[in-house]
This record gives sequence, C-alpha cells and structure tokens, in this order.
Amino acid sequence: MKNHFSRRDFLKTSALGTGGLLSGRVISLEPYPFERMQQKVAHSDRIRFGIIGIGMQGSGLLSGAVTLPGAECVAAADLYDGRHTLAREITGNPGLMVTRKYQELLDRKDIDCIIAAVPDHWHKRVVVDACNAGKDIYCEKPMSHTVSDGFEMVDAAARNKRIVQIGSQRVSSNLCAKAREMYKNGDIGEIENVELTLGRNDPTGAWEYPPPFDLSPQTLDWDTWLNDTPKIPFNKERFARWRCWKEYGTGVAGDLMVHLISGMMFTLGWNEIPRSATSLGGIFRWKDGRNMPDLHLVLFDYHGVPVFVRLGLGTETTELARFLGPKGILDTGEFNMSWTPQPGIDLAPSYYDSSFPSKMRAEYEAQWYTEHTPKLGQEPIYDQVSYRGHDWDDMRPHIWNFFQSVKSRKPVVEDAVFGNHAALACHMANESYFRGKTVFWDEASKTVKS
Ligand SMILES: NC(=O)c1ccc[n+]([C@@H]2O[C@H](COP(=O)([O-])OP(=O)(O)OC[C@H]3O[C@@H](n4cnc5c(N)ncnc54)[C@H](O)[C@@H]3O)[C@@H](O)[C@H]2O)c1
Repeated sequence: MKNHFSRRDFLKTSALGTGGLLSGRVISLEPYPFERMQQKVAHSDRIRFGIIGIGMQGSGLLSGAVTLPGAECVAAADLYDGRHTLAREITGNPGLMVTRKYQELLDRKDIDCIIAAVPDHWHKRVVVDACNAGKDIYCEKPMSHTVSDGFEMVDAAARNKRIVQIGSQRVSSNLCAKAREMYKNGDIGEIENVELTLGRNDPTGAWEYPPPFDLSPQTLDWDTWLNDTPKIPFNKERFARWRCWKEYGTGVAGDLMVHLISGMMFTLGWNEIPRSATSLGGIFRWKDGRNMPDLHLVLFDYHGVPVFVRLGLGTETTELARFLGPKGILDTGEFNMSWTPQPGIDLAPSYYDSSFPSKMRAEYEAQWYTEHTPKLGQEPIYDQVSYRGHDWDDMRPHIWNFFQSVKSRKPVVEDAVFGNHAALACHMANESYFRGKTVFWDEASKTVKS
C-alpha cells in the first residue's frame, strides 16, 4: 500500500517498536533519606514507640521500624502470648515490656507514638483510644471496617489534634512519587481512565494461613479478639484467616485494592470518595467456608473518570496500576514504573487512503509527507522510560514519614481523611457486591445508597 519509507516512519518504528534504538531507557530512583543518614541521632530527637499487634504485618513493621535511625520500640501489646516472644526476638530485647492490654501502652507517658497492626475489626477502637489518650498512631490499612467507623476515626484525630497515618505504604515510595511528578508534569496529559489489577493463585495468597501450633484459649484472649463481632467458640482458623470473613476483614477490596486505590489517589492528586461503584464477582476457587469473594471486579466513577479494578485469588497476574491519558501511559508496579509516551497524531498517511484511486492516493501521500516530515535534527523522540525503584511494599519509608511528622507536627502523607476516602471505595465495592447493584455515595447522609 505504501510506497514511501520516510525518516518519520523510521523514527516511528525505531522509537515505538519493540526493542528499538530509542526505547528501553532504565533509570534508578534515588535512595530514601534515612538510607543515607550517617550521623547518630541526638537523644532528644529519638522516637520511642509502642506496637499493638505483632502478627504477620506487625512483625514486619516492627522489624523495619527498629532499623530506622533514632527509633526505639519500648513496649508491645498483643492478645496472643506467642507474639510477645516474637516482639522480644525482633527487638533483641528480652526485657521488652509486653502485655495483652494495649491500654497500658497508651497510658505510658514515655511513649511518643503507636504503631498498630491489628485485624480490621479492631482498627477503629485502637485508633480512637490512642487519639483520646493523646497518642499519635500509625494504623494499618484499610483504615476502617465499616463506613461509620472511618468518620469516627477522622473525628477522633481532629478533636485530639493527633497525627494519624494509615498504612498503605506505597504512597511513601519513590515509585509513586515519580509517577505523581510525571502526571503533574502533564506527561500523559489529563487522565482518561485507570486500570488497577492484581491476581494470586496459591493458598497463602488466598489467606489460608497455618495457625500457630500452640494457639489455645490459654495462650490467646479469644473473647477480646472477637471485639464486637458475634460471640463464637475459640476457632484457630478465624484467628489466622480472619480476612476470609466479613465479620473481621474487608475482603480482597480492603486487603489488596486499598493499596491500589491509595496509590492511584496519591499519583493523581485525588482525595475523594468515588461517586459510584459497580461490582461483579464471587467465590470461584476457595470454597473453604469464607463469605468474602475471591474474585472481585469493580468499576468506579471518580468525578467522571472510570476506574476499573480486577482482583482475583484464582489466577496469578502481576500487580499493576495503569494510568491512561492522551499523551501516553504510566504503568506502576512493585519495583518499576514505566512511561510510554504517545504522540496522539498520525505518524503516517491515513490508511483510509487505500480506498482512494491510485492517482489520488499518490497525491494525498505526497502532500502528507510534504506537510509532516520533520526537519533534519528536529525529529520527535518517542522514548519509553522505565524507572526502577525500591519495593513499593517496603514499609520503612512510610514509617519514617510518620516518625518525622510526629516530631515536626507537619501533616502526614496519608492522614485519616485520605485513609477514610480510600477505605470508603473498598466498602462501596463490597456493598455493591453483596447488594448485587450499583451503589452511590450519599454525602448528605454519609452512607452508601443503591
Ligand atoms: N500494609 C500492608 O502491606 C499490610 C500487609 C498485611 C496486613 N496488613 C494489615 O495489617 C493488619 C494486621 O494484619 P495481620 O496479617 O498482621 O494480622 P494477624 O492476625 O497476623 O496479626 C494481628 C495481631 O493483632 C493481635 N490483636 C488483635 N486484636 C488485638 C488487640 N485488641 N490488642 C492487641 N493485639 C490484638 C492478634 O492477636 C494478632 O497477633 C490488618 O489490618 C491488615 O489489613 C497490611
């Protein structure tokens, strides 16, 4: 069809084609400030923290926090005694104060702040109690277990003027910072839509965790663990696999999507509740008695911008947040962020000219090349760039930001309002799934309506 192979075509195939000369630049992002700190932290600048919940996530938070310059864990609370031993092992302090009652940590005057990694059905109570006791708190995601929980938490933080940071750690990652900078710069133009996807395909990924061997009503305060959920006899599976049940967890939405939503909000500079959510899904693979879906697809409306989410526990797919605009695509993942610019213009004569008689086609193409062939040395470059960062699931940058805010009283990157907005998207996704209908956010009543 074409009888020309112009410089422009050459640039197009070389710059946009696979493995072309101009594609595939990889740039490593800067290390975090705490990684470069050489000098010792003055005693007056140290942060003394207590931790509540030293389970799967709490143990990671504690291990990360104690490596940060000037941070010291002085007490740990957990309802299960095995985690007291674990906290002492992680801190390397056999004399570390441990307790089943977290209130004892909140009462201590020598504790600057709290890190909490308790199951979702405990978040509100721990955060509200901490704020009321005058303690700043880093609380794990999703911020709330119910819609109303989140507003009580926002209120407790504001009333007590406390620093509350919610634990979607990627918002402190250098990858999300770079994506945000590039979006602000206009590198993909005005956002048109977002795709957020993640898939797992193994029992651990589907939350079928092995309960600790010695778990019993003697080693665990089971009644307290249940909090305000229906009273049921001691159950090891419920303790270890609480994510599977809506009574304690928030499903794949609150467990996984909240990270993608938080990262999206941060990247795009959004801080809001979606207008509506429409879900489809079900329990396709893990028929183990759970009541939360193992496949959950959601379509959100964020002030007119469609955001599509696919979360599944039945097929493994890479976690990806894809931002699409008229000038190209930003793809963010756990270790990489890539920018694929798109010129958004014809790079060759329109293929519609195949419908022209040959003389007209030749005339059109000649004219097209006259008008569009760039001058020598001024050829546009469509160069895909990849940024390699540190793991966006690394919790240390996020804890570090929290500690800095505790000292400076400057706002945290993911405060209670932001955390609440991200969590509300998850609640709306779950509500839509359970009601089998599109749901809408009603600002006047602060409830989800169908
Ligand atoms: N940010 C992340 O990447 C990430 C990853 C995993 C989990 N999380 C979040 O962390 C939180 C904890 O998850 P997990 O997997 O560690 O759960 P887990 O069950 O492994 O650990 C929770 C611990 O909290 C303790 N606990 C419960 N209620 C308590 C109370 N009232 N007082 C003291 N201790 C109490 C339990 O005994 C348990 O040891 C959840 O909200 C989860 O969503 C976040």
